[in-house]
Amino acid sequence: MLKCKECKYCNGIACRGEIPGVGGKDTGESFVRNVEAMKRVRINMDVQADPGEISTACTILGVPMSMPVFSAPVAGIKNNYGFDISEYDYSCQVLDACEKTGIRGFTGDGIDIENLFAKPAQAVNDHNGHGIVTIKPWVKEGVDARIEILSHLKFDMAAMDVDAAGLPLLRAGKTPVETKNTEALRYIKQKLGKPFIVKGIMTVHAAQAAVDAGVDAIVVSNHGGRVMDDTPGTLEVLPEIAAAVKGKVTILIDGGIRSGNDVFKCLALGADGVLIGRPFALACVKGGSEGLAAAIQKIQDQLKQAMLMTGCHTLADITRDKVRIAG
Ligand SMILES: Cc1cc2nc3c(=O)[nH]c(=O)nc-3n(C[C@H](O)[C@H](O)[C@H](O)COP(=O)(O)O)c2cc1C
Repeated sequence: MLKCKECKYCNGIACRGEIPGVGGKDTGESFVRNVEAMKRVRINMDVQADPGEISTACTILGVPMSMPVFSAPVAGIKNNYGFDISEYDYSCQVLDACEKTGIRGFTGDGIDIENLFAKPAQAVNDHNGHGIVTIKPWVKEGVDARIEILSHLKFDMAAMDVDAAGLPLLRAGKTPVETKNTEALRYIKQKLGKPFIVKGIMTVHAAQAAVDAGVDAIVVSNHGGRVMDDTPGTLEVLPEIAAAVKGKVTILIDGGIRSGNDVFKCLALGADGVLIGRPFALACVKGGSEGLAAAIQKIQDQLKQAMLMTGCHTLADITRDKVRIAG
């Protein structure tokens, strides 16, 4: 039996506090708030517009994509979903679906460097390097060990989920995680020699520090509400972060994105792209790479429909005036 309750609408309520599992930390409110923040944004329907083709195509960090959507890093599938599959096989299914649909997928990381980091990174390598490997914010020794593994592999880009710095299980290990300052991020970016994405940005201060470190992209993220209770929803903080750093760094966001309409809202409020976590992971666990490809396709169809209903032909047409924030 899966640990995920497979709710019709994935909103963090039925799984509150379930870690291991797919819930948000403690009361689960940060996860729930991501979804609520998304729902508070409404789309201004307006079809007084020229007819014609609608394109969701884009290029993010030099990679041409069918739409600005990534599959988020989701590690520990056996532990969190109760689904018996190796991290390598799971990563291959995700990357297969991403390849088929023209998007990109992230892999994750964990204490077990071989199974949770090296094997998923190998899966990226085995998909022509088409994927983003994520490194947790280990102390220098742990980061260096992972960059050494990557030096033998093909990969498009790398990310660090800096918000994993407080995870008790990872702080207790022999090579623990730690918070990262501007110099540490600059060091990692230089050592990687690839586009570097910092994931787990929730304030203008952290976004600015990432820009100062010279990173290529940030992900406005609270880790799907799994690392701290009582944070704001990610879409609540996106507008102020975009006002501060838009144009200086690529802005991605995740948390509670469940439809193409949600992707549209994020773009209208300043994001260049989005990551989707639990819905894609569940689609893959239930239906393998074909199931995930269908879920990705559905998001693209919905995004196109939202663009049609708001008079947008390209992603550049999705501007702030296309949405309103209620309340
Ligand atoms: C079971 C599970 C495992 C995750 N593992 C990782 C991970 O290894 N690295 C990481 O950066 N984020 C991880 N995340 C967070 C996701 O990448 C993403 O930020 C979050 O799920 C987005 O919210 P959503 O699930 O509401 O779309 C994980 C999330 C879940 C649910």
